[in-house]
Amino acid sequence: MKNSIAKTLAELEAQSTLEKSRAVNVPPDDRMLAITRETGELLNMILRLTGAKNMLEIGTSVGYSTIWCAEAISEQSGQIITIEQNPKKIKRAKENFSKAGISECILVRQGLALEILSELCLDEKMKNHFDLALIDADKENVIEYFNLVLPMISVGGAIITDNMLYPTKFRGHMKKFSDHLKANPALRTITLPIGNGEEITIKLR
Ligand SMILES: C[S@@+](CC[C@H](N)C(=O)[O-])C[C@H]1O[C@@H](n2cnc3c(N)ncnc32)[C@H](O)[C@@H]1O
Repeated sequence: MKNSIAKTLAELEAQSTLEKSRAVNVPPDDRMLAITRETGELLNMILRLTGAKNMLEIGTSVGYSTIWCAEAISEQSGQIITIEQNPKKIKRAKENFSKAGISECILVRQGLALEILSELCLDEKMKNHFDLALIDADKENVIEYFNLVLPMISVGGAIITDNMLYPTKFRGHMKKFSDHLKANPALRTITLPIGNGEEITIKLR
């Protein structure tokens, strides 16, 4: 891994640890709410194992998960489209991409995920386009996000969803989401007890 990427990830992890332990008082809208390092490593490995080129992320925050993914995607000459509604976080994310030296393969779309996904879906070129998607925005809309993303995933591609197990306040939404996935015979899905609980869902056909 390039030094600039490792250094940026380490800085973001230090900040995330402080925020999670409440050692610093950060206003809710400014919190990173990042995936764990283990989850970042998992995403990076899956992207490498599958040789993924095109990735979609819903919920950029300040770019921690995006950088983990971009580290693999950039070596495979791919691109990540990442969606975030909060302009302050987008500014910080872009600074972090630049510090990591990984901006070229990342396209940030600012706005509400439901609106951006609905618009992307209408573009014929986006059908079966993405090899992998990460869903990590608000949990209330997780089923809607999944349904909008699915047609844009290639057959054999995957959708990974964070927070299946933690925080426990999301369990209700995540249980409904899990039932939704299991009811679809065109999917294969598993909940991994890594990080906050990662759902890995493969599009079989
Ligand atoms: C859990 S954080 C993402 C963390 C990031 N994936 C990481 O691991 O570094 C969720 C992010 O989704 C954004 N978000 C929440 N609801 C959204 C929506 N409806 N549209 C777009 N972004 C949204 C929040 O502003 C927040 O930054």
